[in-house]
Amino acid sequence: MEKRATFGSKIGIVLAAAGSAVGLGNIWRFPTEVGENGGAVFIIIYILCVVLIGMPLMTAEFIVGRKTHKNPVDAYRSLAPGTGWVMQGILGIFVAWIILSYYSVVAGWTLQYLISAVTGKVTTMSDSAAYFTHFTQSAWMPLVMVAGVLLMSHWVIVHGVQGGIERYSKFLMPLLLLIIAVLVGGSFAMPGSDEALRFMLKPDFSKINGDVLLSAMGQAFFSLSVGMGALLTYGSYFTDDAKLMTTARKVVVIDTLVAIMGGFIIFPAVFSVQTVAPDAGPGLVFITLPSVFQMAFANVPMVGWVFAVMFYLLLLLAALTSMISLHEPVTAFLIERTGLSRPVATTVVTVTCILLGSLCSLSFGPLADVRFLFGMTFFDFFDFISAKIIMPIGGILLSIFVGWYLPKDMVIKELTNNHTLRFPRWLFVSFFFLIRWVAPLAILAIFIDELLF
Ligand code: PFF
Repeated sequence: MEKRATFGSKIGIVLAAAGSAVGLGNIWRFPTEVGENGGAVFIIIYILCVVLIGMPLMTAEFIVGRKTHKNPVDAYRSLAPGTGWVMQGILGIFVAWIILSYYSVVAGWTLQYLISAVTGKVTTMSDSAAYFTHFTQSAWMPLVMVAGVLLMSHWVIVHGVQGGIERYSKFLMPLLLLIIAVLVGGSFAMPGSDEALRFMLKPDFSKINGDVLLSAMGQAFFSLSVGMGALLTYGSYFTDDAKLMTTARKVVVIDTLVAIMGGFIIFPAVFSVQTVAPDAGPGLVFITLPSVFQMAFANVPMVGWVFAVMFYLLLLLAALTSMISLHEPVTAFLIERTGLSRPVATTVVTVTCILLGSLCSLSFGPLADVRFLFGMTFFDFFDFISAKIIMPIGGILLSIFVGWYLPKDMVIKELTNNHTLRFPRWLFVSFFFLIRWVAPLAILAIFIDELLF
């Protein structure tokens, strides 16, 4: 059995956790949600959810992980021996495995689009909607892409915590932030940028309703990667001098800024082409943006091509660092529970996810008629049970575990690195108030609403 690793540096810790948080959720899902939920007003509510619920939950995951230095199942088992809390760890592993499978499908689309951008197809295709439908519905190419992205994540995980996750996060995250900065700059030069800014920054409070609230909270959860085993596992590799609250704050700030930048990249483009409404849904980045790149290409070919390549590279990198954080918890669990070596455990996860991911991918084409509960396809079903059922349950249980079950002294000791860090008292008071009351009750409200209405 391999000796348990830790991250080697504080910057590595922040970048790895930020890599988990920043993903398709920021650049693909966030703009879609903003578009469908009224623009600026959604962004304000989203930020409130992130600060009041997301950040305390992320800190709580770090506490459980760093305190035990174990995979999610053993972490709960050692903090609450002989109780049912171990189920929380099992759920965390299960949901990471399921999310990795269907997340790879969309990550695979970004790989396909990156290749098409490089070969010049994205900037010259005549009908981007038809291309998207044709590609996602076909049988083989999407499967090849699913396998491609999973093998990339496999490569990183097989190299372990410092040599894989930390090393690649330290390289990929700065690259990702640089690409975003260039793309935002380019987007502001577009004719639709004024209208986009108004849409994203000028709130229309009449648009607030229950749905907007619930979507904002769901998005905050997904985007911050909380409520399952991913950040807990990363927390288990944190060194004893890592500052948990500070790390959570940094990750939350990076994640939120990237999401807002994602909007700043996409909406000026959407308002410039005028052919699609901002609430066009998930097709925004795969259908609308190609038209924008084509427009740019028609004016200055090099600019259109470079922007297309950079954009899909950005999406792929963001997806990849999140996939890595889903791959690791399952792998660590297999290594530590079954004694498999890292290469074998990683392979088990990669292969099973290629199989499950293929089912999800085929559910857009040949398996579109295979339906589950409420007529859902494989893809919808995986998304539903993980993001809508298990993640909220995980969030509630996590807040109860850290807020009520663990001794308060133990939590404070973990937050202050054994009383070596000083924080103002109000910070602890607010942390405990948010984790004990606000987080569980708010999540319970969304959960019940989503299930019943
Ligand atoms: N936070 C990722 C995103 O925004 O795309 C998705 C994700 C990654 C969710 C890891 C959950 C997770 F454990």
